[in-house]
Amino acid sequence: MDRMITLNLQTKKYKIVISQSEDDFFTALKKAVKTNTFFVITDKNVKKLYLKYFTDLLNHKGFNVKTAVIDEGETGKSVESLSFLYDKALEVGIDRKSCAIAFGGGVIGDITGFFAATYMRGICYIQVPTTLLAMTDSSVGGKTAINTKYGKNIAGAFYQPDLVWINSSFLSTLSERHIKNGFAEIIKYAFIFDRKFYNYLFDIFKKGITSSKDFDYIIYQSCLYKSRVVEKDEREITELRTVLNFGHTFAHALETATKYKEFLHGEAVAIGMIFATALSLKLKICKPETYKKVETLLQEADFVLNTKYNAHQFLSLMKRDKKSVDGNIKFVLLKDIGKTINSYIKDDIVLNVLKNFTRGNK
Ligand SMILES: NC(=O)c1ccc[n+]([C@@H]2O[C@H](COP(=O)([O-])OP(=O)(O)OC[C@H]3O[C@@H](n4cnc5c(N)ncnc54)[C@H](O)[C@@H]3O)[C@@H](O)[C@H]2O)c1
Repeated sequence: MDRMITLNLQTKKYKIVISQSEDDFFTALKKAVKTNTFFVITDKNVKKLYLKYFTDLLNHKGFNVKTAVIDEGETGKSVESLSFLYDKALEVGIDRKSCAIAFGGGVIGDITGFFAATYMRGICYIQVPTTLLAMTDSSVGGKTAINTKYGKNIAGAFYQPDLVWINSSFLSTLSERHIKNGFAEIIKYAFIFDRKFYNYLFDIFKKGITSSKDFDYIIYQSCLYKSRVVEKDEREITELRTVLNFGHTFAHALETATKYKEFLHGEAVAIGMIFATALSLKLKICKPETYKKVETLLQEADFVLNTKYNAHQFLSLMKRDKKSVDGNIKFVLLKDIGKTINSYIKDDIVLNVLKNFTRGNK
């Protein structure tokens, strides 16, 4: 077994297996679920690339395998897709003892998780992520959701998987833009948790990622950071899990203002992290050296760090964020690499930083 993490939650315990070995997957699978029937859910792109390989793998072990394919991308995470999954599952004989498998990126992970949480009042499910973002973030922690006509992740549930199998060889076909997208959240873990991981990433960006061993290490570290937070605050009830929202308040405003068309989530988070650090600097919570470190790593990873926006529009969008209370915007701020604090910040300060943050502001 290459690398394995056990997630110990109050309600459940499950394993994250990071390995390119199919045997490792089956060993873990046997222990994790007692079923003979799997419902593999994927999107059209992943179907073309890997669905036959994956269903053959399960079939050869004697499992009964049914599949469902939905549209790729954010539009796949819809009420219509969910309804299609319920119908398809019933049609092919998926029952309460069957197990769903999310085979794809974060979109597939989120909708499959929500499907599993609600189909026949809940069936088990497994995450087999195929994007870097899903391998390092969305497949771990049990947040599931679909979008509605009016917004992203409007309907959802906390519902933990029974196993996560991360095989980094799937990354060989992922576009460079989506690889970079995954790196935003990985860099976030370095900023909020670990100076050593910051240095490691800095070196790796300088020399270029050369082996799947590098990816496996990065994925392992990322899953470890996320797991430890989720263990302490499974349902985001205390302040602990909110640390993962570093950069996200601004990112959500940016994604909303551009109607989710211009930026991938990670690209928006990269800009959000530099904004949150600019705010930290303005409030003298961090030193200029820390700001520089944040900027340097994001630039090494090749993220574009400025964008055009209207400061007043952004302020009002950020006030609508799920984490705002009574119109006060709550930010995760950076004290130093590896150290954060949560704070409600007054509008005039946020506006001031917004106005000075990047070129092109009105
Ligand atoms: N649940 C959580 O905790 C959590 C956390 C972060 C993000 N998310 C959600 O994740 C979603 C974004 O995930 P994503 O970035 O993985 O996007 P995605 O699932 O849309 O995948 C990106 C693209 O890559 C394609 N793809 C997937 N695997 C591939 C492979 N191996 N090779 C080639 N192409 C491949 C997909 O078909 C898609 O076109 C968003 O909906 C976001 O809300 C959830």
